Amino acid sequence: MRERGRDTRRRPGRSPSAGAAHACPEPQADFPMKKERPLEESREFEHHECMMPEPVNIQKTLDSFSELWSPRIVAQFNDYDVRVAKFHGEYLWHSHENTDELFLVAAGRLVIHLREEGVERFVTLHPGDVYVVPRGTEHKPVSEGESHIIMIEPTGTLTVGDTHEEIPDYVDATTGHRVN
Ligand code: NI
Repeated sequence: MRERGRDTRRRPGRSPSAGAAHACPEPQADFPMKKERPLEESREFEHHECMMPEPVNIQKTLDSFSELWSPRIVAQFNDYDVRVAKFHGEYLWHSHENTDELFLVAAGRLVIHLREEGVERFVTLHPGDVYVVPRGTEHKPVSEGESHIIMIEPTGTLTVGDTHEEIPDYVDATTGHRVN
């Protein structure tokens, strides 16, 4: 039996701390930009500097968690997330009505089953392969062994899609978890 569920949450506002945790450095007493600029401008400069994220390492992020089908957000750009996840076993059939979904295989092997106008087929992805599931296409990722997957999709996209099968206990229905 299929369920229809729509994620009513809209894209969350971006906070300056989005992405990697970053401690704003204390301004130096002899910071040259501050001396040469008017007060307002220098504040703006400092604020902008504080928004600069630190690099995030994908392998370190993968090493930091073990949950399956539970993506971590490693970067955000424009209105998109870059997420990394560990897959093992079978996911559920689902579709995203309003967005394409990009999969890039970092490690392991990923089979994505697809249903288009009642016709079922699958694609097999190996490390380094990238594949885009078009919006509205039903898909079901399957990973015989553990695979490590990078996904790019709009911020707020629910992992289980807008239309999906019953969600099994081992599946984390989420819009992605932040890494700290
Ligand atoms: Ni999907």
